Amino acid sequence: MKLSVLYYSKSGNTKRMARAIGAGAQSVEGVEVGVFPLERVDQEFVKESACVLLGTPAYLASMAGTVKNWLEIQARSCSLAGKLGGAFATADYVHGGGDMAVQGILTHFMVLGMVVYSGGGSWGKPYIHLGPVAISEELERYRPIFTAYGERMAKKSKELFG
Ligand SMILES: Cc1cc2nc3c(=O)[nH]c(=O)nc-3n(C[C@H](O)[C@H](O)[C@H](O)COP(=O)(O)O)c2cc1C
Repeated sequence: MKLSVLYYSKSGNTKRMARAIGAGAQSVEGVEVGVFPLERVDQEFVKESACVLLGTPAYLASMAGTVKNWLEIQARSCSLAGKLGGAFATADYVHGGGDMAVQGILTHFMVLGMVVYSGGGSWGKPYIHLGPVAISEELERYRPIFTAYGERMAKKSKELFG
């Protein structure tokens, strides 16, 4: 079963967290993970994926314009409908809108017909509400949350589609 982690990253923070998610997902048996920047998405791999996760830096308390543009235009070529979807973000400030960036992506995923999931709730600690958000100044402190998120999304994908 394939799982794709897509991200946009200008200065590397979101890329690092995307890789942490990928490592967590890869730890689940039978899951093949692809981690792609939005500039170089392997559309065939994404099409074959049961789960697609999308990450963004918070820009003006929302997703980056590049991410919205990808959702509006290129996402159509990836046959996202029916797949499990989740979102993650990095931001400079806890009050900087990382959650709103995540929520924006999840809303787009719903419109595209995906099965949206937070990776939180009944799993307990580490708690994840809408999707993981890391603060740039202490990125590494958040790594375990992103790794756990990848593992949970992979396990849920297997449960639903495996
Ligand atoms: C144009 C621009 C707008 C930003 N707006 C916000 C913001 O509204 N809130 C915030 O917390 N951080 C904001 N940031 C900081 C980034 O979200 C943060 O540094 C992020 O980790 C960068 O991710 P990257 O290294 O993957 O590019 C902004 C950065 C840029 C370049």
